[in-house]
Amino acid sequence: MGTINIKSEKQTSEDERLLDRFNQLIGISEQKEQLLTHLQWIMKPIDSKKWMKDHHPNGLELVKRITKVPRLIILSGDVGCGKTELANCIGSKLSESLNNESVWIYRAPSDIRGTGLVGELANRMTSMFESVKADSANRKYRILIIDEADDISNSRENSEQHHEDRTGVNTLIKEIDKLSDESVKIAVIMISNRTESFDPAIMRRSTIEIKFTRPNQTELVELMTFICSGMKIEKNQLQNLIQICLDKSPGFTYSDLFNRIALPTLMQAIRNDEPYSYERISHALKITEPSPQFKHHEND
Ligand SMILES: Nc1ncnc2c1ncn2[C@@H]1O[C@H](COP(=O)(O)OP(=O)(O)O)[C@@H](O)[C@H]1O
Ligand SMILES: [Mg+2]
Repeated sequence: MGTINIKSEKQTSEDERLLDRFNQLIGISEQKEQLLTHLQWIMKPIDSKKWMKDHHPNGLELVKRITKVPRLIILSGDVGCGKTELANCIGSKLSESLNNESVWIYRAPSDIRGTGLVGELANRMTSMFESVKADSANRKYRILIIDEADDISNSRENSEQHHEDRTGVNTLIKEIDKLSDESVKIAVIMISNRTESFDPAIMRRSTIEIKFTRPNQTELVELMTFICSGMKIEKNQLQNLIQICLDKSPGFTYSDLFNRIALPTLMQAIRNDEPYSYERISHALKITEPSPQFKHHEND
């Protein structure tokens, strides 16, 4: 009942399509940078020997720990901010800093919980990690993505939590710990909209929690400039568009701005054989309601 064989995807720095997807994620450069930096430290720590000689010739205790950075990175925060998309294309960008060597992406199946039989979640979890670890030896750099991870990471302190879920969390923690002993480099990216309910032991094991929020004013300037580039538009009109966004509460998500506003507006302009214009974008911004914020479950 518990065997899981997950398919993998090879990502390299030569894959223009993936790099394009990475570049098309706008306004989240800080999150991109953080994710890349931490993945780099997990995959290929900078050799510190020369640095030590230059700056700390008498030694530095802490430096020994660098090879032991936790393998887990958490992406958390609001919906429609690019968490899933960023995780799904990060391998190609990461490959650039790994001498263009391939990065292998594994995705946890959405039915990891199985059918709810006793012990099934724990078995399937172990099997998933085994299958990532056991894959052919020449795959040096691997990333396991666990999207929508709320389900399997809930705190064991939650009294309503089912025994099955508790053993699931225990197994997850054990498997993450074991990754540090592996000779191949395996990073785990867990993605969630509500880490507040995560088990503290999982949070402790992460090297960083990278948070995503709806775009603020600075990010809106970047987004709107991108969305309107090539359009005939005055400076004050651009400011008007940004102001429409700022007046909404909650604000638009990145996904709202691109997929529900800019792209449909562009498509409509093409269909009508008319220019993609300030008036059209401004109208679309006004009539579109931002996606509702992620609601917490009542018993959380
Ligand atoms: N920062 C961004 N820049 C451009 N497009 C974005 C951004 N964030 C999200 N999108 C668009 O919204 C879609 C959904 O984003 P997704 O990664 O699924 O969000 P999340 O996982 O945070 O809920 C993406 O496929 C992309 O088209
Ligand atoms: Mg997502």
